[in-house]
Amino acid sequence: MKLLAIHGSPRKRGFSSTLHSEFIRQFTSAGTEITEIHVYDKNILPCTACGTCRSEFYCPVKDDMEKIYGIIRQADVISISTPLYFSSVPSQLKVLIDRCQIFWEQKNHNPGNLPCRKQGVLFCTAGADYTSMFSGVLQLVRHFFNTINAGFTEQDCILLPGTDSSVAEKISLEIINTSARLSERIITGITR
Ligand SMILES: Cc1cc2nc3c(=O)[nH]c(=O)nc-3n(C[C@H](O)[C@H](O)[C@H](O)COP(=O)(O)O)c2cc1C
Repeated sequence: MKLLAIHGSPRKRGFSSTLHSEFIRQFTSAGTEITEIHVYDKNILPCTACGTCRSEFYCPVKDDMEKIYGIIRQADVISISTPLYFSSVPSQLKVLIDRCQIFWEQKNHNPGNLPCRKQGVLFCTAGADYTSMFSGVLQLVRHFFNTINAGFTEQDCILLPGTDSSVAEKISLEIINTSARLSERIITGITR
């Protein structure tokens, strides 16, 4: 089994990556091949809508996405952790997602070459707590996972609001355990 874990926060020990790490830890003991990507460490240029992926089904931009495309294709599970930034995701994570337009073009115009079927998982943390605050991210991530041939439901995510308030101990034992249980469920589903 192959897991690609994409960390969207510039803070490697922040709330979202801490939750994500607990999820990843369970895969380590299951003997999974794990690739972790911190998007802020990567050289990923924005999509310029050049149209090459529409006509020729490849991306001509030479950067770290060349390798990441292959990892996305082959992963059985793709997990994304992200803070909420202006009700969406941080720009560097959005850049990676936009560069996956190549998969959208393949899915719609060259469907013989789809990434292998996979499971998507999301962790999103946010400073405040307001109505429908995660709806933008959920819509975006659902669209992304659908494009790369990943199943994803609202049971496959952990959304943690209110990290700005009160004490630093926001990542409580309970939420950490929830993250571990989520990975156990995903591992069981994949290996069954
Ligand atoms: C640029 C920026 C934009 C943010 N936008 C929002 C927002 O729209 N809504 C919100 O509730 N919190 C917002 N926050 C707070 C973060 O989502 C919150 O602190 C999050 O838990 C940080 O996660 P991390 O520790 O994994 O980086 C923002 C923070 C930054 C730096």
